[in-house]
Amino acid sequence: MSEQIVYLNGEFLPLSEARIPVLDRGFIFGDGIYEVVPVYAGRPFRFTQHLQRLARSLQAIGIDNPFDESGWRGLVADLISRHPWSDQFVYMQVTRGVAKRDHAFPKGIRPTVFAMSSEFIAPSREQREQGVAAITLPDERWLHCDIKSVSLLGNVLAKQAAVEAGAAECLMFRDGILTEGSSSNIWMARHGKVVGSPVNHLVLEGIRVGLLADLCAASGIDYTLRRIAREEVFAADELMLTSATREVLPITRLDGKPVGDGRPGPVYQRLFNAYQDAKRAA
Ligand code: PDD
Repeated sequence: MSEQIVYLNGEFLPLSEARIPVLDRGFIFGDGIYEVVPVYAGRPFRFTQHLQRLARSLQAIGIDNPFDESGWRGLVADLISRHPWSDQFVYMQVTRGVAKRDHAFPKGIRPTVFAMSSEFIAPSREQREQGVAAITLPDERWLHCDIKSVSLLGNVLAKQAAVEAGAAECLMFRDGILTEGSSSNIWMARHGKVVGSPVNHLVLEGIRVGLLADLCAASGIDYTLRRIAREEVFAADELMLTSATREVLPITRLDGKPVGDGRPGPVYQRLFNAYQDAKRAA
């Protein structure tokens, strides 16, 4: 297709023409928030929940929401319609805006609003059938991981460590307790039950956290959020990750050791099927 069209501060324009001033506080301080929304058959999936999280992130850092819900819906529908792919993912970012460099919030500036949509590439058959490898590291991020902030250095370094180890994700631990992946929520299955970490200031409330609760309820799978100790993670029958872009994926190797029997398990299989059904039904 011809070049991707993006939205920037009220305009739709080709990606290569989109420019922001270097004094944008997103560039200078990482002072902004973002969302990543999957789009299936042209329709944003779980969009209400994504917009609610966007509003919470903005409120948490004191930026006025530049649009109400219908404003965001219109903008994103317009963006999607400018691209040929049936399945896309929309990236939305709001920063505090452009001002002379000073840590404190400047008065009277307008937030920078950016959105782009890319083709949605689902995880490969090989990833689904073999599962992916993960490593573990201490969680060295700040204490507001509930805010979907563009300040992602801790996440970036964790993901890079995974990539350098030939793995697809890094599971992070604080004081021996699982938090989340560098860009995903992490799940374990034990005796056919699904367990995830509680969502609080240490863990982003992934939109798939609520989705998995619904999928488990519909499939008759026991679902609990509770603190998970490192030893439990290594003793799990199955491990999985979820995110907007990777949906649900089995983790079959952790720090070089097989998870369970080293193959994607039955709980993953059921959740994968339920996920596909939910996409079709949405
Ligand atoms: N990240 N935790 C972290 C730290 C994440 O970055 C993400 C997703 C999730 C899962 O959230 P959700 O189910 O809403 O995608 C959990 C996105 C995909 C990203 O940064 O690209």
